[in-house]
Amino acid sequence: MSATTTPDLAAPRSPQIRKKGVNLEKVGWVYMRVSGVLLVVLIFGHLFTNLMVGDGIHALDWGFVAGKLANPFWQWWDILMLWLALIHGANGMRTIVNDYVTGEKVRKTLVWAVFVAAGLLIVLGTLVVFAFDPCNGVTSDSVFWEACQAL
Ligand code: HEM
Repeated sequence: MSATTTPDLAAPRSPQIRKKGVNLEKVGWVYMRVSGVLLVVLIFGHLFTNLMVGDGIHALDWGFVAGKLANPFWQWWDILMLWLALIHGANGMRTIVNDYVTGEKVRKTLVWAVFVAAGLLIVLGTLVVFAFDPCNGVTSDSVFWEACQAL
């Protein structure tokens, strides 16, 4: 007959379980909650100003976008929304991949693909927000010509 051993629950945890240093999983867990709260404000603020203030959705046109992206307040609002949402989404996808993908090579490849995609979108989005020129490529035969001359 084999003897059964009862684990000593009061004993200190082994060093393998309680690692020293920064716990990246915990940082990620906290990030999801903090960024979630900030994203509620940023996303609903974005939807409210774009769709409900003034003429609402009917005011959305080239001039509206050009005006908003010329304003440092909205530039930084959009940048914060872009960075927080993409890092939040990528970290969330990492969690899902880690939970469901059993093959180690496929799991690593997918996690890398998620972060490369998020990184590229962050770089491109940041360039769009800060380097946006509404009159780039507008020539005299364009309907935007006069508006661009006035800028
Ligand atoms: C309104 C703003 C948002 C709030 C309040 C929010 C909140 C959260 C929270 C608290 C979690 C963690 C859930 C858990 O660990 O069980 C989560 C997970 C996740 N979020 Fe968000 N989120 C928001 C916007 C977004 C956006 C814009 C994206 C996409 C870009 C996104 C994609 C994800 C993904 C992929 C997960 C992982 C789901 C999982 O673990 O099953 N979320 N979100």
